[in-house]
This record gives sequence, C-alpha cells and structure tokens, in this order.
Amino acid sequence: MPSRGGEKLKILIRRAAIQKRVREVASQITRDYKGQRVHLIGVLKGACIFLSDLVREINLDTSLDFIAVSSYGKGKESSGQVRVLKDLDSSIEDLNVILVEDILDTGVTLSYLLRVLEQRKPKTLRVAALLDKPSRRLKPVKGDYVGFTIPNEFVVGYGLDYAERYRNLKDVCVLTLSPD
Ligand code: IMP
Ligand code: MG
Repeated sequence: MPSRGGEKLKILIRRAAIQKRVREVASQITRDYKGQRVHLIGVLKGACIFLSDLVREINLDTSLDFIAVSSYGKGKESSGQVRVLKDLDSSIEDLNVILVEDILDTGVTLSYLLRVLEQRKPKTLRVAALLDKPSRRLKPVKGDYVGFTIPNEFVVGYGLDYAERYRNLKDVCVLTLSPD
C-alpha cells in the first residue's frame, strides 16, 4: 500500500470481513424496517464508501441524502466544534431516517447531528456506523447498527481519511506517524 514517508499503515480489518459485516448490518436493517421505506443520510465524506456498499445490500424501498459537517480540520484531533458545510437536499419529516457515519469517536459530531435532525421531525431516527471507538466518548451517544468496535487507534481506509488521504484503501488500517 502506498504511504508517505513517516506514515505507517497496518491492516486492522480486512476487506472480506468488512464486506461480510456490511451484509449482516444490511440484513438487520432490512428485517427491522420490513415493508417500510428507509431514508439513508450519509455524513460526508467519510461515510460515502460504507453507505454505497450498505444501501446496495438493503432489500427495501430506499432513498438517499447527504450532509457534510466539519469537526476535525485537517489533522487527527477534533476541534470540538461542529459546523454544517452542506445541508440536506430535502425534508426528512415523517421519514424513517438512518444516519450513516464512518466512525463514532468522541460522539461530538453525532450528538450535534442528532439534535439538528430531531428538530426536523423524522418518523424515526437511528444511527448506522461502520466503526465505533467507545473508549473516546465525550457525549453519551451510541450507534443502533455498528459494524465493528475498535480500540483507541487512528484508522484510515474504506472512506476514512487522514488529511483527506487514504479514503480509497479497501481495508481499514491503523495509521501511525513516526518522526523519522
Ligand atoms: P467525533 O465527533 O469525535 O465522534 O468524530 C467523528 C468524526 O471524526 C468521524 O466521522 C471521522 O470523520 C473523524 N474520525 C474520528 N476518528 C477517526 C479515525 O480514527 N480516523 C479517521 N477519522 C476519524
Ligand atoms: Mg474525517
């Protein structure tokens, strides 16, 4: 895998395991919402790969929208402040909304988004996240559909970035920065 000098990648979750788990999560969603439509909202940009694999495995009437927020700036640490950079295209009133996130970390982004979306009166509102780092939580939020619970490591790949890079990796990898 191409990485820059000083940046080391180590596979944490292989592509086959991700594929299998995404199918399981999609089956669970299909069972839970039997006979209903689900409206998936992807949180850009990290969730785009997970969302596009997930939605194709859901066997229901579906629709999609996207929202973009910023909380991390360019590096590995959260600025703690969330801003909407791109809002939804359409109303979510009376829809079964599933917010699709790449990773739940401190929970700051998710708690903000849940507050914003709740105000728009969806019929139901749940959260699907590929990854969960519960040890980092500052806000008491949790995912309804979680792919993998992972330790407190900085990960990239399958949509997750470091300064916008590495989103294209097929595996989820731990990124470490060495000084040399
Ligand atoms: P939170 O607000 O701290 O929960 O952060 C959520 C967002 O931070 C995620 O949607 C990611 O974009 C980013 N993030 C958190 N942890 C990681 C990581 O390990 N790798 C890459 N991005 C991360
Ligand atoms: Mg990010």
